[in-house]
Amino acid sequence: MEIELATDLKWILACSTLDVPENGGACIKHEDEQIAIFNFSRRNEWFATQNLCPHKQQMVLSRGMIGSTGDTCEPKVACPFHKKTFSLVTGECLSGDEEYEIKTYPVKVIGDKVYVGIRSTT
Ligand code: FES
Repeated sequence: MEIELATDLKWILACSTLDVPENGGACIKHEDEQIAIFNFSRRNEWFATQNLCPHKQQMVLSRGMIGSTGDTCEPKVACPFHKKTFSLVTGECLSGDEEYEIKTYPVKVIGDKVYVGIRSTT
């Protein structure tokens, strides 16, 4: 199996596809980060974001409801606590709170393995 490498991107094996419910999320831990992984099976797409909701610093986004919004059908996740919504593509807060933004990660699925791309900070 060959993994595509980018100069500043390291692909980590996050989990099996069976670990993430259809149209739902699961959380993995990578070093000090919790990463929410979403299996958006209605769209046949996978996404990953930080698990931390920036509103009240809760580790909950993997349990948020996912959906699509707007003319562009932007994929989004709604925090289960106060329902602030975030783009799964850009991390932008779609609830009008510009100060809140979440980190997003590229995802690729090869066979039954889910890989998340981690950018180097150096
Ligand atoms: S903790 Fe997520 S919206 Fe408040």
